[in-house]
Amino acid sequence: MNKITFPNGFMWGAAASSYQTEGNNINSDWYIEEINDRNRMPENRRLTDLCGEACDHWNRYKEDYDIAEKIGISIYRTSVEWSRIFPQENQENPEAIAHYRQMFADLKKRGIKLMLCLYHFTLPIWISQKGGLENKEYIIENFSIYAKRIVEALGDLVDYWLPVNEPNIVAMMCYLIGKFPPYKKNKQKFRKVLRTILDIQLLSYDIIKSRFPNSPVGVALAFQHYQPYRPDSSRDIRYVNHVFRKMNCWFLEGLDSGRLQIKKRRNKNVMHKGIDFIGVNYYTSSYLKSGKPAPFKDGEIFTDMGWLVHPRGLYDVLEYVHDNFDVPVIITENGAATTDEDFRIWFISEHLKVVHSALEKGVDIRGYMYWSLIDNYEWERGYTKRFGLTRIDFDTQERAVKRGGEWYASVIKQNGFML
Ligand code: BGC
Repeated sequence: MNKITFPNGFMWGAAASSYQTEGNNINSDWYIEEINDRNRMPENRRLTDLCGEACDHWNRYKEDYDIAEKIGISIYRTSVEWSRIFPQENQENPEAIAHYRQMFADLKKRGIKLMLCLYHFTLPIWISQKGGLENKEYIIENFSIYAKRIVEALGDLVDYWLPVNEPNIVAMMCYLIGKFPPYKKNKQKFRKVLRTILDIQLLSYDIIKSRFPNSPVGVALAFQHYQPYRPDSSRDIRYVNHVFRKMNCWFLEGLDSGRLQIKKRRNKNVMHKGIDFIGVNYYTSSYLKSGKPAPFKDGEIFTDMGWLVHPRGLYDVLEYVHDNFDVPVIITENGAATTDEDFRIWFISEHLKVVHSALEKGVDIRGYMYWSLIDNYEWERGYTKRFGLTRIDFDTQERAVKRGGEWYASVIKQNGFML
């Protein structure tokens, strides 16, 4: 048996978000949508569960950090909830800020680094009532106030910043396929909110850098990976390359100019603005036949989300980022919804193998974060999908590290694993 070993200082982490774990975020647009949903006839409901008290992480964060410490992660990725900090326009909640300070100070005391995201899918109700991402001027003005406040109040505790989680997914889920509030399907609006999110990234970068010039700021992008349905068809391959760039690169390539764009030139893009590292969120892959979605093939393996398991896709993404952009990479999300711990261990190890191969090829990967430390609220699918390294009993809020979590702990301890 061979052992694969990761570079010294490679960061092993786990990720989560505020809304999915904290519970009782009653001033968020998602909370209101969940209530509205319960007033719809069952057949018209869009969400599986109300978020409710989620993992009660707001109150039980110490228990969760105990678990993080036990597993041995060196970095924890989470977010702050804008609607807790500003429950109303221009009305700050000092207690919420103090609570976040307490939480993050506790994490840092344990020697765990913090990667903090400012916007992970949820907005305050007062923002969404004024048009949310569609009301560019308003959201930009207020996001600046919020970002400045967080930087000033919590910035000394933050090691890595992510102003926005998955700009591509937010825009797509909220404005193109309409699965997240405000449930719209409108191409024009989709493009408009993409541009707004690009501005949010750029303005946050400047705000963070003006106070903490050495703190790395990145973006977590949900990389969409495609395979040619007919592997030998040059037409399918051409489409795959084209759609890959369209789905993944508008944001990265638009940062320099501040405009939504895919650049014509294909030489390595040296990032000057808006980003110090690329956060890769990677879960799955799909097929394209002549540029159109094509069915999966016999014998393929899926997670409980119905997502195809395709570790090779992560390698392709890492290689692409390395060949095209001049900044380091951190894998900011990768994980499986499953109740089978052998499956989870297999899933992680197959993905870590390709991370290792990419490192050997020279890709500058600084760390890997498993999604997620604990089971949590999986958006429109509610509590039915279990991504956690730790099981949560949502009736009693009891936590128990799963076998997958124990295995991940052993990987971290050895900085690698036996093949
Ligand atoms: C999101 C998470 C989500 C995970 C699994 C990512 O796209 O950032 O919030 O829970 O995928 O669906």
